[in-house]
Amino acid sequence: MANVAVIGSQWGDEGKGKIVDVLSSEAEVVVRFQGGHNAGHTLVIDGVTYKLHLLPSGIVRPGKLSVIGNGVVVDPHALLKEINTVKEQGLDINPDNLVLAENASLILSVHSIMDQAMEAARGKGKIGTTGRGIGLAYEDKVARRGIRVCDLESNDVLKEKLEKMLDHHNLLLKGWGADEVKVETLYDELMSVSDQILSYSGVAWKRLDEVHKAGKKILFEGAQGHFLDVDHGTYPFVTSSNTVAGAAAAGAGVGPSMVDYVLGITKAYTTRVGSGPFPTEQENDVGEQLGTRGHEFGTTTGRKRRCGWFDATLVRQAVKTGGISGIALTKLDVLDGFDELKICVAYEIDGERYDYLPSSMIKQANAKPIYETMPGWQETTYGARSYGDLPAAAVKYVKHIEELIEAPVALLSTSPERDDTILMQDLFLD
Ligand code: IMP
Repeated sequence: MANVAVIGSQWGDEGKGKIVDVLSSEAEVVVRFQGGHNAGHTLVIDGVTYKLHLLPSGIVRPGKLSVIGNGVVVDPHALLKEINTVKEQGLDINPDNLVLAENASLILSVHSIMDQAMEAARGKGKIGTTGRGIGLAYEDKVARRGIRVCDLESNDVLKEKLEKMLDHHNLLLKGWGADEVKVETLYDELMSVSDQILSYSGVAWKRLDEVHKAGKKILFEGAQGHFLDVDHGTYPFVTSSNTVAGAAAAGAGVGPSMVDYVLGITKAYTTRVGSGPFPTEQENDVGEQLGTRGHEFGTTTGRKRRCGWFDATLVRQAVKTGGISGIALTKLDVLDGFDELKICVAYEIDGERYDYLPSSMIKQANAKPIYETMPGWQETTYGARSYGDLPAAAVKYVKHIEELIEAPVALLSTSPERDDTILMQDLFLD
């Protein structure tokens, strides 16, 4: 009985939401294990578009259990707002089908205030964060002054912890000449949602142990992408969590052997939002075409995504360091109509050839892609439902990607619709 972790193998926005949805027809439980409402997963089901940020994608399917694990940072107001939005769209959400780990850390308003202030202070060196306070909440967690879901159970504990947390933040705010944040403000903010949040709170690791023992299949839903990982990404232009599948165990409260298959969601070209190195970026007509055809605007911030050619060197690195068993290749149709396609097979950095992206910030900034060029195709691949429907040049492109990244394409997605999916390996949930 296989459990699958679904993670992004590039810089996020690879189309994880749809793939998780496709797979959740077979899995009974969907778990988020890192990140927060910086994520944006779009699902189109029977013509209805759901934009999820914090809720696991399994929530759109009746009868599934959705778990927000301890590794997620949760803005309680954003969570309740999202629950209300999808409820208005007709979904049933209740404490039986949604469990919020009692030991998950909370994002408070002070975190987004600080996130935005710190970005402003970085000036040209800004990371381009989503401004949602993700990094600040993780900082507080690691500094052991964070507020967790279970802290809402005791007013006294909550007040005491808020005081300690604000001792730290107010010192910084004072230094910047900004207004200090009052304990009462954060306390009142939390009290206004406390009962509702606590109604979803539960011992997530125990629920997962129970469902696992009952033989149910579990899907671990990653957010962001491999190169936004705080260790393996293009540091410091990264998010503040480990986005690799290895984080699924710690962030959900299960052992690492619980993950049987790691599916790396991979776009047929490359995009990135925010600052940071991007060797195959195309700041030209090609980039514009990819962005327009691929509707490359952020689900969370609406920002225009940077676009470029497929980078096989990068994805191969994600396969190796992230333990990716196979990939789901998405948005192949966006490449329809190009005369030729380029694939990055290595980098040239200061006169030397590299078959990987080194960690040094300077080397990453200087990495020049070495391309192979392949013929494109003029036919449409949009909505294709079998491999035989693809033009020969598209099949060659897919096959070559498999060779270069040293991992099989397990699944091909040819439109946002659930049914427009070609399964190449149907084994991984068996
Ligand atoms: P943060 O996660 O808001 O701290 O932002 C850090 C970096 O991660 C920025 O470059 C963001 O644009 C990027 N980022 C965060 N979440 C996502 C996502 O879901 N998709 C793509 N990029 C993201």
